[in-house]
Amino acid sequence: MMIFPLPIQEPARLSLDLTKPGVAVSPMLYGHMTEEINFSYDGGLYGELVRNRAFLDDKKQPAHWSAVGEGAYIGLERSGLSSARPIALKVRGAVANEGYWGIPVRPSTSYKVELWTKADASGPIAASIESPDGSTVYARADVKGVDGEWRKLSAVLKTNQHVMPVNDARFVLRTGNNRSTWLSQVSLFPPTFKNRPNGNRQDLMEMLAAMKPRFLRFPGGNYLEGNTPKDRFDWKKTMGPIEERPGHMSPWGYRSTDGVGLLEFLIWCEDTGAKPLLAVYAGYTLNGQHVNAGPALQPFVDEALEEIEYVTGGPETKWGAQRAKDGHPKPFPLEYVEVGNEDGFDRSGSYEGRFVQFYDAIKAKYPHLKVISSTGGTDPIGVKFPITQRKPDLWDEHYYFEAWDMMGMATKYDNYDRKGPHVFVGEWASHDTVAPWVAGAQAGPTPNMKCTIGDAAFMTGLERNSDLVKMACYAPLLVNVNKGGRQWSLNLIGYDNLNSFGSPSYYAQKMFAENIGNRTVTFTLSGVPTQTQGDKHLPALFASATRNTKNGNLYIKLVNPLPTAQEVTLDIVGGHLGREGTKTVLSGDPKAVNTIAEPMKVAPVVTSLHDLTSDFRPTLPPHSVVVLSLKIVH
Ligand code: AHR
Repeated sequence: MMIFPLPIQEPARLSLDLTKPGVAVSPMLYGHMTEEINFSYDGGLYGELVRNRAFLDDKKQPAHWSAVGEGAYIGLERSGLSSARPIALKVRGAVANEGYWGIPVRPSTSYKVELWTKADASGPIAASIESPDGSTVYARADVKGVDGEWRKLSAVLKTNQHVMPVNDARFVLRTGNNRSTWLSQVSLFPPTFKNRPNGNRQDLMEMLAAMKPRFLRFPGGNYLEGNTPKDRFDWKKTMGPIEERPGHMSPWGYRSTDGVGLLEFLIWCEDTGAKPLLAVYAGYTLNGQHVNAGPALQPFVDEALEEIEYVTGGPETKWGAQRAKDGHPKPFPLEYVEVGNEDGFDRSGSYEGRFVQFYDAIKAKYPHLKVISSTGGTDPIGVKFPITQRKPDLWDEHYYFEAWDMMGMATKYDNYDRKGPHVFVGEWASHDTVAPWVAGAQAGPTPNMKCTIGDAAFMTGLERNSDLVKMACYAPLLVNVNKGGRQWSLNLIGYDNLNSFGSPSYYAQKMFAENIGNRTVTFTLSGVPTQTQGDKHLPALFASATRNTKNGNLYIKLVNPLPTAQEVTLDIVGGHLGREGTKTVLSGDPKAVNTIAEPMKVAPVVTSLHDLTSDFRPTLPPHSVVVLSLKIVH
């Protein structure tokens, strides 16, 4: 589809009235949403480098493991360490793990190996990180103490400063040809963000923290619900030492180790400065099974209350004490709990009753918590079953729309019912021509600049209406870009095992979150050109303005969807422009994407502005998102 600009015309005029402060901007507006999809944790954010570390991915064969060298033998046996680790890999000779599309190697880096192992004769296991053919050994160490008992043993592999980074190495354990060795869990960790044990990848955590997320919605998404009740996010099975976590099948077609469990999500919040937004399982799964409200649902309600206690409880509580035992004595600052996910898909209509049961129980024990319903609002899924017997504090709306339609959504909340619950846009993203859930879509794995324009236009509407829209988060957040790594075609941040990049939409969101005041500014936009697609028309300029009432700073966001530059005339009533400011511009061809090879092809360019006068007339390049940070003097 083509967008045809109108002929050259006078610049649009943005008239800001500082004498009429607008609505308070929600301090929670921009956050993150996450779930195990696209190898977001295993093979992504989670530091673990060994794939299929507990031999549970495939019942029949040791997937991602291979025998190394002539005469070597490997095979699965049901003789593992425990009920959570029922399987052991029997090895004679040597065995290699291929990692998540390779093991990444960096210079001057320490990798911690941890094995649960035993053997029919004592002696060390030689662990190494080496090239795929074994001709180059990057790091090597002996794991000592192996004998006839199951033991947890460890060693550290160190690369030297001359090693060149590679992403295709393998991890090899040489156990000896003349004995049998059993492995029930094999783990290899590089240094993690903030050196957290069982922690996350440094580069990805830095990228997430740089967005200044105000909250993290976890653990999903479909991942919360599971395909069947046994595959839901069963939080009690995601805690404690990793060998005690059985893991489970995710709805996205692969097994989750649950290495990122409830506590790890909470620490992730702490490490990125986000508040937890905890979604609790609400008795509905993706295969359409549901539990009716009443006694059958009560165990799940109790489970949710216990989960909240794990997050917020003091050491005197059962689950607060458990959290302290797990390594985090300090309670986490929980304010928001969401009941289920996309329960508008539950055609039985059982959600109303289920929501009421959860809502009443949560409010009775934790009256200060805000309870979010997963239906209601005006998105195509939620609208079917709005809650009528209670007023949720917020309802969660999801929008996956074409960039054009997302631009149309920029005015959605301008005239929205203010008497209902507040709005949480818990999932949203623009796409190009193909919907992101279409299997095998050629688009992606991350959005192009056309999508970013749709995203940014939509965000101007969120900001202007932030008295109503209290929170919003894009989805999905993360994608492993290797072939076979993704289930959803468009995602915010891409990576392989060594490198990562932000999409243009990542940068637009970062620009929006970094430049926001605590009050909206009242403005009018006039002389805006029109853009046309088929027989549809939309304005060709989108804007929002906010002000920091403490220091007077003014933040203006402008989105130009046209293939031509636009100038904008600024009128300011109630103050004058200070002399200094900054202009941040993100622009690029609509088809432009960032990739591992070109991570910054579309990236923001910040320019310092000097000697500004009332004549300042910012130019918006073609297809651009522009953020102005300005001072106001009176
Ligand atoms: O974000 C991907 C999926 O889209 C989520 O798991 C689900 O909630 C939605 O349908």
